[in-house]
Amino acid sequence: MQKYARVIASGSFLPKKRLTNQDLVEILSKHQVDTSDDWIVQRSGIRARHFAEEGELCSDLALQASVKALESANLTAQDIDMIVLATSTPDFIFPSTACLLQGKLQKKYGAWLCPAFDVQAVCSGFIYALSIAKAFIVSGQAQCALVVGSEVFSHIIDLKDRTASVLFGDGAGAVIVQASEEPGILSTFCQSDGSVAPILWVPGQLHGGQIYGDPFLRMDGPAVFKYAVKVLAEAAEKVLQKSGITKEQIDWVIPHQANIRIIQSVAHKLNIPFEKMIVTLHEHANTSAASIPLAWDVAIKGGQIKPGHYVLLEGVGGGFTWGSALLKM
Ligand code: ACO
Repeated sequence: MQKYARVIASGSFLPKKRLTNQDLVEILSKHQVDTSDDWIVQRSGIRARHFAEEGELCSDLALQASVKALESANLTAQDIDMIVLATSTPDFIFPSTACLLQGKLQKKYGAWLCPAFDVQAVCSGFIYALSIAKAFIVSGQAQCALVVGSEVFSHIIDLKDRTASVLFGDGAGAVIVQASEEPGILSTFCQSDGSVAPILWVPGQLHGGQIYGDPFLRMDGPAVFKYAVKVLAEAAEKVLQKSGITKEQIDWVIPHQANIRIIQSVAHKLNIPFEKMIVTLHEHANTSAASIPLAWDVAIKGGQIKPGHYVLLEGVGGGFTWGSALLKM
């Protein structure tokens, strides 16, 4: 019998420190940067974000989200035989944050071993990680994977740059993907185009004990906006074609939470009612690789997504990278 991969549980975590737009306006004003709650809400839909405390790292957020996902699945870390973690804000250059997470899970659950590695596809990272976990499970190389998106974008935003600093937040989301005889993740699609890298990047390099270039996120907002709408719509069409599901059958779309206007434009382009879009960016802002699993967890715990529903996930981010996944719950 063919083996499938299903998402059986989720968990998420937001750092305690919550900043409203007004809080951020006050912080930015200390850097002589002028912005307003009105501008941020109108241009992005964002009202608040969470920032990690000093010393609170990507693996710490990932640990909290992973423990919640394991508890929700009634499993312990020893049941996991693979960890794939998506991030662009790792604790260190190496080891991978997935390995650090594995070490932290051992502290809590006792000694055990499993393969663990990071995926770097910026805001599409969770889709890439999910498709890797699916491939490992369907090919029989894993039975139960922990797939995590975790980010501390507060570490790479320049508080003197108002175009980018108001859009991002920190957080983590995790899901457990298990081998199953019932279809779950029906299909996935991943794509990239490195020729447009400079429209969204952190062009800093570490060399000889120094940072060369720029250690902050830089973005051409309008160019990113246009590219994101185009490829998100294409990614949705691709994964629908691959799985033989029609748009009308889709119950929920969980898009990357970057900007409400991007989500509205994609819904319009796809002719999918906006009411089917899960939106959490007003509270989370853009948490990059964590944005989809965070929104997923909110929609599951909030009772919106139910067994039997068809759910479309789609992400886009620096690289450029983009991707989608279609799931039957
Ligand atoms: N506060 C006040 N004014 C601002 C701010 C701010 N924070 N940022 C920019 N402005 C000003 C600009 O200087 C400009 O002023 P000007 O007209 O006097 O020159 C004006 O607002 C309009 O700027 P635009 O960049 O044209 O505004 P736009 O409507 O395109 O909105 C935004 C900017 C929100 C960045 C939008 O382009 C966007 O969301 N792009 C996508 C970016 C994104 O989502 N990035 C996330 C990472 S990628 C990903 O996750 C997919």
